[in-house]
Amino acid sequence: MSLAIGVDVGGTKIAAGVVDENGTVLAQIRRATPARDADRTADTIAEIASALAAEYGANSIGIGAAGLVDEDRCTVLFAPNLAWRNEPLGQRIGRATGLPTVVENDANAAGWGEARFGAARGASSAVILTVGTGIGGAIILNGELVRGTHGLAGEWGHMVVRPDGRRCGCGLRGCWERYASGSALVADARELATLDPARGAGLLESAGGRADQISGIHITAAARAGDPAALECLRNLGVWLGRGMAALAAAFDPDVFVLAGGVSEAGDLLRRPAQESFTSLLSARSFRSEPEVRLARQGNLAGLVGAADLSRAV
Ligand code: BGC
Ligand code: NA
Ligand code: ZN
Repeated sequence: MSLAIGVDVGGTKIAAGVVDENGTVLAQIRRATPARDADRTADTIAEIASALAAEYGANSIGIGAAGLVDEDRCTVLFAPNLAWRNEPLGQRIGRATGLPTVVENDANAAGWGEARFGAARGASSAVILTVGTGIGGAIILNGELVRGTHGLAGEWGHMVVRPDGRRCGCGLRGCWERYASGSALVADARELATLDPARGAGLLESAGGRADQISGIHITAAARAGDPAALECLRNLGVWLGRGMAALAAAFDPDVFVLAGGVSEAGDLLRRPAQESFTSLLSARSFRSEPEVRLARQGNLAGLVGAADLSRAV
């Protein structure tokens, strides 16, 4: 069976895995994303992809990168939350590893992974959202990934949802991802714990008493244990997600929405409030069938699995 390496490069972590033709991940390596350092990021990708390829004998590498990837699936043009500016990532990794390498936007890769093997399998059209450091998007239509003329379709993390709102890494203000991402979730929880330490006691405790140390993992764990403040933060995120999803339903009328990315690991604690907010804002909702909101079946691995699969085609 032919094996491919899939790499998912996000704002905080790099995950690489060996993936078979059925989308099964046979082995994995994870590393922190080197902060603001494009060279070290490329070196880290090359190092872990080579290690896996040497051990398992893979034939190609697919990279899902958290940024705008050109139509040739080679260069990362720009990454709002990473150091890439016109970064020839495909060429660099191909050269360093000696394997054919394809680069795709991380959310497109995750969408492809879920369409091939996961929650969007069999859907005639699907909108996939990755909720992590930013918000990423993918559109699947009749089983195909819609890439747009320049490879840039699905960049709706940068739809302005609040004019003059929070600053964004893309240079605009008020982008959706500044309100509905893992970073927004963490900022909300830190703010809550700082301004109301009594209410945020559970969150603070899990972070060693320091509001600035609260992370997404702490929030999800506290919410699972029933902590009201953590649940409130996830609900706020769900509300913001639902707002944008209602706009996307107006644009695309998909069968299903799939929530993927790190924060989707909160499961129904995220899906339910997102679904409720979405439903309440869906225009003409008594007169139409409502898209379903599902969780990525491959969870946080969707991007890696999808990227590996895309690399087989070349
Ligand atoms: C980027 C997208 C990316 C998303 C998720 C956004 O800020 O513009 O390209 O897919 O974050 O990583
Ligand atoms: Na995308
Ligand atoms: Zn933006």
